[in-house]
Amino acid sequence: MGIIVILFSVILLIVTAIYLYFKKSYSYFEKEGVPFIKPTFPFGNFQGIGSKYHFATILRKIYDEAKGKSKVVGFFNFIEPGYFITDIELVKLITVKNFNSFVNRGMFVNEENEPLTAHLVNIEDDRWRFMRNKLSPVFTSGKLRSMYAIINGLSENLIKATEKQSKNSIEVKNLMTKFTVDVVSSTSFGMNANCLNDENKELHEISREIFGAEGASPMKLFFLFAFPELSKFLKLRQFSKRVTNFFINVISENIKYREDNNDNRSDFLNMLIQLKNKGSIDGEFSTETKKLTLNEILAQAFLFFFAGTDTSSTTASYGLTELAFHQDVQDKLRQEILAMTKDTNGEISYETLHEMTYLNQVVNETLRMHTPGFANLRKANEDFKVPGTNITIKKGYKVWIPTLAFHFEEKYWKNPSKFDPDRFTPEEIAKRPPMSYFPFGEGPRNCKYFYLISIYSE
Ligand code: HEM
Ligand SMILES: *[C@@H]1O[C@H](CO)[C@@H](O)[C@H](O)[C@H]1NC(C)=O
Ligand SMILES: *[C@@H]1O[C@H](CO)[C@@H](O)[C@H](O)[C@H]1NC(C)=O
Ligand SMILES: *[C@@H]1O[C@H](CO)[C@@H](O)[C@H](O)[C@H]1NC(C)=O
Repeated sequence: MGIIVILFSVILLIVTAIYLYFKKSYSYFEKEGVPFIKPTFPFGNFQGIGSKYHFATILRKIYDEAKGKSKVVGFFNFIEPGYFITDIELVKLITVKNFNSFVNRGMFVNEENEPLTAHLVNIEDDRWRFMRNKLSPVFTSGKLRSMYAIINGLSENLIKATEKQSKNSIEVKNLMTKFTVDVVSSTSFGMNANCLNDENKELHEISREIFGAEGASPMKLFFLFAFPELSKFLKLRQFSKRVTNFFINVISENIKYREDNNDNRSDFLNMLIQLKNKGSIDGEFSTETKKLTLNEILAQAFLFFFAGTDTSSTTASYGLTELAFHQDVQDKLRQEILAMTKDTNGEISYETLHEMTYLNQVVNETLRMHTPGFANLRKANEDFKVPGTNITIKKGYKVWIPTLAFHFEEKYWKNPSKFDPDRFTPEEIAKRPPMSYFPFGEGPRNCKYFYLISIYSE
């Protein structure tokens, strides 16, 4: 009997403590005098995440509720208070003009336990500045041009795989994932993955574990993200040991192979090896010659996989799906491609690819409606008073930028649910404020890959 009473009391105490903790957290914005969206226990403003709604849908709903209230409102990621931005001028202040107050994202990093988490997207402050500087020469159009042949060669496999399937219906996401995994693992790890020919079941499984439903539950990811320090203390992992070991082994083996055989292929991996051995990349001017460690380049090679695979394959899949639903767009695009390859026997060069204006409009419109980076994040590293309001974004709190919601804002996009590549003619672009569209983020911490594709178009 006694033990039951004690047990009961302990449970009651724990429940009460948790309740009080949530209640205290949920009163944060009221105390601060900041307008906020009412949270409910225990998900805060993310009720229905993973079950009823996609994360991106929830953020759009919050945007719709918040935008009339204030250009920044308080809201809750489970229990963690955050600032939600509803105004594009404020996005620009945070990501560009006042970047120094918002350098980091506040992501989970546990370098000791999980070295692969210490990559450019996650690392902070001077560590990030150093690494971003080191990696900048990796992302230039000249470097992409030198990888074009590899990508072009792999696309032959894609054509064959498509032809094989095209008698039936094509499961396009699966197909595009295999293709992007082949491209990224070839250019970043020097690995001949050949997922398109179903030769690498293990890598395919691993990719599904990282990006697909088989991976970490959204709950766990949210916990890691809401409480990065606590998660580190509890030794939680973002990826399973299997995933971590797989990448560490594959990448290290290929590095060793290239070093032993003086293999000078020009791709991402070789540039990383140069940064490890010499501190700079051949032919690139650099004042900072500190070398990168093996763990540092393993994490960055993994980053290319992590940041590059799902973003690209999702974009390609949605683009193809929209073409299937819009025969007129598809016909027009086919005309452009046929006209520009008339004299080349179907070969598409790096230059021609970029001269295909309508193709690039189709990609732009796909990225507007199906934005893989549907939210951008920053963490305040000092207090920031929001101009024109009485609101101060407090040091240590996260700022959420609902990119996808801006891409559907009727102020900037007429009939936003309609797929229409003509929104990206130069005349139409000129009619909108530039910050109404930013699928690659903004400011010094935007997508590195963005430079690759934008620099060329000049
Ligand atoms: C369609 C393809 C892609 C999309 C839509 C995309 C989108 C994004 C977005 C929205 C961000 C956050 C930007 C911000 O916070 O302002 C980002 C960051 C980043 N992306 Fe991409 N990305 C794509 C492909 C790639 C590829 C292929 C790579 C590398 C090979 C890459 C490397 C990075 C890196 C390194 C960062 C972090 C930069 C930093 O923190 O300094 N991305 N990307
Ligand atoms: C790679 O470069 C090194 C020195 O820069 C050279 O000695 C070696 O022969 C090259 N290897 C290949 C395969 O081109
Ligand atoms: C794609 O969108 C960006 C941003 O609005 C713009 O700078 C670029 O010119 C667009 N490209 C095309 C081909 O529409
Ligand atoms: C800020 O607070 C002051 C004093 O309480 C008030 O007069 C002013 O209207 C407020 N400004 C805004 C933008 O809410």
